[in-house]
Amino acid sequence: MQAPTDVAELNPPERTLMGPGPSDVHPRVLRAMSTPLVGHLDPAFLELMDEVQELLRYTFRTNNQWTIPVSGTGSAAMEAAFANIVEPGDTVLVPTNGYFGGRMASMSERAGGEVVRVGAPWGEPLDPADVRSVMREQEPDVFAFVHAETSTGALQPHVPELTEIAHEHGAYVVADCVTSLGGVELRVDEWGIDVAYSGAQKCLSCPPGASPLTLNDRAMEKIHGRDEPTRSWYLDLGLLEGYWGGERSYHHTAPITNVYAMREALRLVAEEGIEERWRRHRRVAGALKAGVRAMGLEMNADDEYWLPSLNAVRVPAGIDAGEIIQAVLDGYDIEIAGGLGDLAGEIFRIGCMGHSARPGKVLHTLAALGGELERAGAEVDVDLGIGAARRRLAQADEQPVPVDE
Ligand SMILES: Cc1ncc(COP(=O)(O)O)c(C=O)c1O
Repeated sequence: MQAPTDVAELNPPERTLMGPGPSDVHPRVLRAMSTPLVGHLDPAFLELMDEVQELLRYTFRTNNQWTIPVSGTGSAAMEAAFANIVEPGDTVLVPTNGYFGGRMASMSERAGGEVVRVGAPWGEPLDPADVRSVMREQEPDVFAFVHAETSTGALQPHVPELTEIAHEHGAYVVADCVTSLGGVELRVDEWGIDVAYSGAQKCLSCPPGASPLTLNDRAMEKIHGRDEPTRSWYLDLGLLEGYWGGERSYHHTAPITNVYAMREALRLVAEEGIEERWRRHRRVAGALKAGVRAMGLEMNADDEYWLPSLNAVRVPAGIDAGEIIQAVLDGYDIEIAGGLGDLAGEIFRIGCMGHSARPGKVLHTLAALGGELERAGAEVDVDLGIGAARRRLAQADEQPVPVDE
């Protein structure tokens, strides 16, 4: 076999990432990734691990001791959550209102759990009254929900109400915060979430590879009291405790560069301030929302459960979403995405996350999307849209996020 020496030098196109993730990475994070490696047990790295854990606690709004970046993408943190908290025979209540509830079900089943479901149409959040009635019927051991459904652009409001219902029934609460952490108001401790996980490449604007996970003492007690070890060796939190807990002994070789990147991305969160970061996402995505509406398009989600980090925009009648998405990529180097599952062909998914949640990027995206829709024959007024977005950007946030005491 000949050496493939004709493989060209790496030269990917320069894109603006306004899709469901990854988002654009801050140059400081990219620079951190070119920092020379140290060993994963080097005293310098051990110190840096403490810093990452502290920064993650700040970002999750938690005091949970057990707060770590799991090696792998968001699905690794997700699987670490389900593989450990779900014991064989446990009943797990999962949502059916989006793509990721389905993944929760698969992971729970692989962990030996029995899955029961609570529904809402795709694009809508769970209704606490429905959760309460399924809780009464099924008395699950674990209740999982998606705080920010990337597949539909729906935010799950009423989180404290949901966790209260679950706790009244003795269930542990697992929250998927992949598309909310660092961009949308999330208060793990105050809201009573027992286990929360996230990803790097959404509102933290970090390349995928190390993924936040936090568990409270109540959840860790269940895990420590398991009758049989979790079926995953790599994601066994009991074993990972040796590395991320006090001892710092070898379990696996941490992805050093991803941990550097996560540290820098979280430093950016702390510098900006978490509440201010939530406000920025609302303000900039609010301009996007105002722009698409003024242009003549419709948002898929009601304002009550609008998700600033992922804006689902209805595809106008007679328009092929795939063609528009391709034209926006080819003509403007902007990545946006289409709908999945029940919403395939029905919505555009426009991310507004982290370093991509900036005024210039949103105005650029509106101009590109509006221009291509106009070209395809949709009834849109691009100038009206841009004007509305500019005016919205000039205003303060009409619904300020309450600031922590
Ligand atoms: C809500 C949600 N959960 C889980 C995941 C899985 O994360 P990853 O693709 O990084 O493995 C994603 C990824 O888009 C997501 O949006």
